[in-house]
Amino acid sequence: KPPARILGGGRDNSGKSTVINYLKPKKAHSEDIVPTVGFSVETFTKGALSFTIFDMSGQGRYRNLWEHYYKEVGGIIFCIDSTDQIRMCVAKDELDALLAHADLSKVPIVVFANKMDLPTAITPVECCRKLELEKILDKPWHIAASNGLTGEGVDAGINWLGEQMVRLRSTRR
Ligand code: GTP
Repeated sequence: KPPARILGGGRDNSGKSTVINYLKPKKAHSEDIVPTVGFSVETFTKGALSFTIFDMSGQGRYRNLWEHYYKEVGGIIFCIDSTDQIRMCVAKDELDALLAHADLSKVPIVVFANKMDLPTAITPVECCRKLELEKILDKPWHIAASNGLTGEGVDAGINWLGEQMVRLRSTRR
């Protein structure tokens, strides 16, 4: 059985690429799986975890294509800019669409409240409230304050996700 994939998402400027770059091995490569329509995903592995990162910003029209990959997804990372209170509701819409997808039910999700180093960042508790994470009942969720630039908080969030994925697999067996 191939390792379950981790789906990465978040709005533009949330620090998604920065967090992903921190996780990526140095010799990572990008793959265009459907290059004819310009739909690209980035894949890499870190330890036992296999990542599939979709660029979810600005390419909503390809959503129905990448949704085919949701069946292989065993974990989700979702990045938010915790200094951007104005666009928090846009992030929430994106997150809600993911959370509502039938193929992603029960799939654990870690939300990175990113840019925590900036003075204007709101706390993870406030992010939690704005994104209404307490309403998530069908899957394990976790919020981790992170600094994509230094990687602070990123490994802890990813480790939590990895543990949840292992647990889920063993209960499904
Ligand atoms: P798109 O490529 O537009 O989708 O954005 P993205 O979500 O991938 O964000 P990106 O990683 O490009 O980061 C946006 C900006 O935020 C960059 O200038 C980063 O250097 C900065 N940034 C990312 N993470 C952090 C963080 O934790 N703290 C601070 N201070 N800046 C960050």
